[in-house]
Amino acid sequence: GAIAVAPAAPVWAVPHPGAPGHAPGTEAAPPTGAATAAAPSASFPFEGPTQQGILTPPQAAAAFAAFDVTAADRGELEALLRTLTERARFLTTGGAPAPVGITAPPADSGVLGPVIDPDGLTITVSLGASLFGGGSGTNGNGGSSSSANGSAGGTSTTPTAPDRFGLAAQKPRALRTMEDFPNDDLDRSQCDGDLLLQICANNRDTVTHALRDLMRTTRGGMQLRWRTEGFVSPPRPSGTPRNLMGFKDGTANPDPSDPDEMAALVWAATDGSEPAWTAGGTYHVVRRIRMLVEFWDRVNLREQEGMIGRSRDVGAPLTGKHEFDEPDFSSDPAADSIQMGAHIRLANPRTPESTGSRMFRRGYNYDAGLDVNGNLDMGLVFTTFNQDLERQFVTVQKRLADEALSDYISPFGGGYFFALPGVQGADDWFGSGLLA
Ligand code: HEM
Repeated sequence: GAIAVAPAAPVWAVPHPGAPGHAPGTEAAPPTGAATAAAPSASFPFEGPTQQGILTPPQAAAAFAAFDVTAADRGELEALLRTLTERARFLTTGGAPAPVGITAPPADSGVLGPVIDPDGLTITVSLGASLFGGGSGTNGNGGSSSSANGSAGGTSTTPTAPDRFGLAAQKPRALRTMEDFPNDDLDRSQCDGDLLLQICANNRDTVTHALRDLMRTTRGGMQLRWRTEGFVSPPRPSGTPRNLMGFKDGTANPDPSDPDEMAALVWAATDGSEPAWTAGGTYHVVRRIRMLVEFWDRVNLREQEGMIGRSRDVGAPLTGKHEFDEPDFSSDPAADSIQMGAHIRLANPRTPESTGSRMFRRGYNYDAGLDVNGNLDMGLVFTTFNQDLERQFVTVQKRLADEALSDYISPFGGGYFFALPGVQGADDWFGSGLLA
């Protein structure tokens, strides 16, 4: 039966600590739309040309769960995607309007209550290269080893993945198994996958129950391959939330409220270079990067700031005073203030040639306890949405190869995925354009 929930102010009526202007501080207001924690919201519209969870301001809690699809054929794959659509629609909209003051995790188990509060839930569905089979894309590094028999975690060097669903010709142009970059320590059991669910909400329990609901209702169609939980905390004390190295992370993001910028940097190209069904989709890169925090915490502040190129407290570029000041590399040819190997200088050199490699990031912190040696296991679930995987993420990652920061981080998992276009209309479903 239903449990009684004490009436309380609905979460979305309380100013979220991350809401711009909530925290008093000396920082200038961020430019419109700079990524901060989620604004209060009961529910994000489920339908639209693009999915939620991409430009949506990061909610406090997230799960990234990658699956091997075990559907036997195209018909079963369609059934799987239709079920995911139906459950995602139900969970994110609450199934029914939530009466004011009633909150419960989104599940229809009856244990948790019949009335559902979407709690800012978004469910973003993305596909991996292995689902499409065929060649490995542009880098020649092989298809995924994922298979229907549950042999997760093999090698990444299979030259071609079997085209189980007849989708090879429809694969997004650059989609492929994630390659090893210099300094990577990838565990293939923690990489790739046929299908990624990115689930975000204002509270952790909402995320967890949504994941369990989606797994329960798709049993037989897909099998969990790897999973990580993520969190973002309110800004400390103001501005952009911090990562676990203590630095504000997300400051220099392109503006998600600028449609032209998003058309140029996020949404799949519509000039004929991509399969037509991809319009409204985007390359979804997840890199699970451990931070060697014990080591980092022994480095003095000046050195830490030098590696990033920004001050730790305010988040200002070392050539400026305020968080949202533009870093000035040009007046700084000798790199007195922002060293050549600084993270922000390599990530975005701000030259005419590098403009197209800018990317929209939506990262989360993770904390996975400790490793077998007793060291803290925590870091960044680096997440970025790209129009062109090669031109943006891969280009920037190559520039970062030998950055000073690379001694303090260890990428071990994640993958390349393609976030599907949005669901449009009551009869539409995730992937309809791909499978129809
Ligand atoms: C900026 C940290 C990994 C791309 C930043 C900033 C910090 C940071 C503190 C400055 C604040 C901001 O503008 O957001 C980290 C840490 C990482 C990491 C700790 C690993 C654990 C990556 C990776 C990429 C990347 C893997 C891409 C391949 C960028 C970009 C910027 C940035 C494009 C914005 C640069 C600008 O426009 O000024 N990162 N980052 N970061 N990072 Fe990272």
